[in-house]
Amino acid sequence: MKLILRLFLAISLFSSASFAEDGRFAARSLDGQGAVASVNPLATRAGIAAIEAGGNAIDAAVAAALTLGVVDSHNSGIGGGAFVLVRYANGDIQAIDGREMAPAAAHRDMYIIDGKLDKTASKTGALASGIPGSVAAFDYLIRKAGNRSWGEAFEHGIHYADAGFAVDPVMAKRFSRVAKELPQFEASKAIFLKADGSLYQAGDWLVQKDLARSYRKLAKHGSRWFYRGEFARKTARWMRENGGIITRKDFANYQLLEREPIRGEYRGLDIVSFPPPSSGGIHIVQMLNMLEPYPLAAMATEERLHLLAEVMRRAFADRAHWLGDSDFVPVPAGLTDKAYAKTQMQSFAPSRSDDVSAGQPGGDAIDTGKILDGVFDKHTTHVTAADKDGNWVAITTTLNTSFGSKVVIPGTGVLMNNQMDDFSLQPGVTNAFGLVGNEANAVAAHKRPLSSMSPTLVLHNGKPVITAGAAGGPTIITQVLQNLVNVIDLGLDPAEALAAQRVHHQWRPNMLMVEKSLAPEIQAALKAKGHRLYPRSYLGASQMIAWDPDAKEFMPAAEPRIIGQH
Ligand code: DON
Repeated sequence: MKLILRLFLAISLFSSASFAEDGRFAARSLDGQGAVASVNPLATRAGIAAIEAGGNAIDAAVAAALTLGVVDSHNSGIGGGAFVLVRYANGDIQAIDGREMAPAAAHRDMYIIDGKLDKTASKTGALASGIPGSVAAFDYLIRKAGNRSWGEAFEHGIHYADAGFAVDPVMAKRFSRVAKELPQFEASKAIFLKADGSLYQAGDWLVQKDLARSYRKLAKHGSRWFYRGEFARKTARWMRENGGIITRKDFANYQLLEREPIRGEYRGLDIVSFPPPSSGGIHIVQMLNMLEPYPLAAMATEERLHLLAEVMRRAFADRAHWLGDSDFVPVPAGLTDKAYAKTQMQSFAPSRSDDVSAGQPGGDAIDTGKILDGVFDKHTTHVTAADKDGNWVAITTTLNTSFGSKVVIPGTGVLMNNQMDDFSLQPGVTNAFGLVGNEANAVAAHKRPLSSMSPTLVLHNGKPVITAGAAGGPTIITQVLQNLVNVIDLGLDPAEALAAQRVHHQWRPNMLMVEKSLAPEIQAALKAKGHRLYPRSYLGASQMIAWDPDAKEFMPAAEPRIIGQH
C-alpha cells in the first residue's frame, strides 16, 4: 500500500482517536490492508489500530491478544499459554508452542492428596498452574516479524487496565459462576469483587491498576521481567507461602518451542494446523480424511450431522488413547494417514450410532519440538489477523477455565492459569471438560498438558485462503472442523459458516451435544439413529478470516453467539 496513505492514517489515527470504539468484533482496517477478528470489540479495535499505524498482522494479533488479557481477562491473559500458527509474508509457516509447562516438582500422582484424588486442586489454587508461555510466544513473534515495537503492542491493554472498561454481559455471567472461588484469594478479591464484596454486573466499570503496572513493566523491560525478574519472584514467593510448587527456576527454565505443523489435504486444499501438545491439528486432519469420501453438500442435514458425529467419536477415542505431549510420549504419525481414516470408517453405519474404541494407527512418532532461542535476550480465546503482505496469524490463548486458577499474584494483577487440569489426573478420570485420557497425558515434570486448541490455516496453491480457530475446550476441534466443512463443502461465507448450528461428540461421555436451536425434526432423526442427545444453548466461540479472490479483500468473521450477548 502507498506509503503516503499509510503515513497519513498513522498520523490521523494516533493518540486518543486510536481508542475510539466501533463495536465491531470482526473488522477490516480502513486502508483495506488487513483484518482482525476476536471475541471483544476493544481487542479487535486494538488490532485494527496497530495495522492502521503501520503494523502488520503480527502486530495486530499480539496487540489484540494483549488487550483481551485485560478486557476479557476471564478467558486469557499473560498468566496463561498460547499456540500461534503463523504464515509469514515470505511463505514460511511456523507453529509456536507457548503452552504452559508443568513445574519441575510436578509428578504423576501430585493430585492424590491425603490418599485420594483431589479434583479441585488441579482447577483452583496454587497447584493448578503450569508455567505460562503466552508472554514468550508474543515476544518472539513481535521480535521476529512485527513492524512495530514490543512496547507499542501494549498500548491498548495498558489503556483499558488503567482507565477501565465496562464489564460486558459475558464477563458478568462468568463472575457469577466463580463467586465462591475468587474471594478465596486476597488479590483476586480486591480486583474482581467490588469494595463491598458484591459482584461486578454488566455495565459496571472495571479498573485493573496492578495489571496496568505489570503491562508497563513488561512493555519496558521485555519478557525478562516476567521469566527472570519481578514477576517470577513474586509468583514463586506466593506459591511457597500457599502450598504451591512453582519456583523461580521453573520460570527461568520455561521453553518456547517451535513445532512441525500438522499437514493434511482436503478436496485439493492444504490444511495446516497445530501439532501436539495440541490434539487439534491431528484430529482435524484425521476427521477431514474420514469425511472426504462423502458428498457432504449433497447429503440431507441429519445424514451429514450423523456422519460428523461418528467421525468425531472416532477421533476422540484416539485422542483419549494416543495423545499427549510428543516430547514425552510417541504420538503415531499414522493418525493423519488417509489409509488409516478409511480403516476407521469401515465400521461406520449411516443408519445407526455405534460405540467404538481407539484404533491402531501405526507409523513413526511425530516430531518433537525445537527450542526457540533468544526468548530472554531481547476459559480461552482465539484471535486472528491477516494482512495484504501475506502475514496470517492465528492465536488461541487461554487460562483454561474461567479466571484460570482464580489466583491473582498479589501486586501484579495477573491471573494464573489452571492448565494443569488439562492433564489426565489419573487414567480414566475426567477433567473440567469431561475428557478422559490415559498415560500418554499423565502429569510429569516439564511436560505440557494435552490441549484442544486448534489454530488452523487453509492454503490453495500455496496461498492462504482461510484461517480458523475457536474457544470452548474440546468443542474447539469440532467447531473448526464444522466451520471448514461449512465453507469448503457447503460454500457458506465465513459469517454464515460460524452462524450454522453445531454438534459435538467427544467419545466419552457417549452423547451427542447439539445446539438447542437445531430443528426438532433433525434432533428426532439423530435420536432415531441411536444418539443420546445433550442439547446445549450454544457450542463454542469461533473466529475466521477468509480471502475473497473476486473482491480481493478479507472476509473476517467473529462468533455471532458471543456478539448476541453483548
Ligand atoms: O487447551 C485446552 O484445550 C483447554 N485448556 C481450552 C479451554 C477452553 O477452551 C475454555 N473455553 N471455553
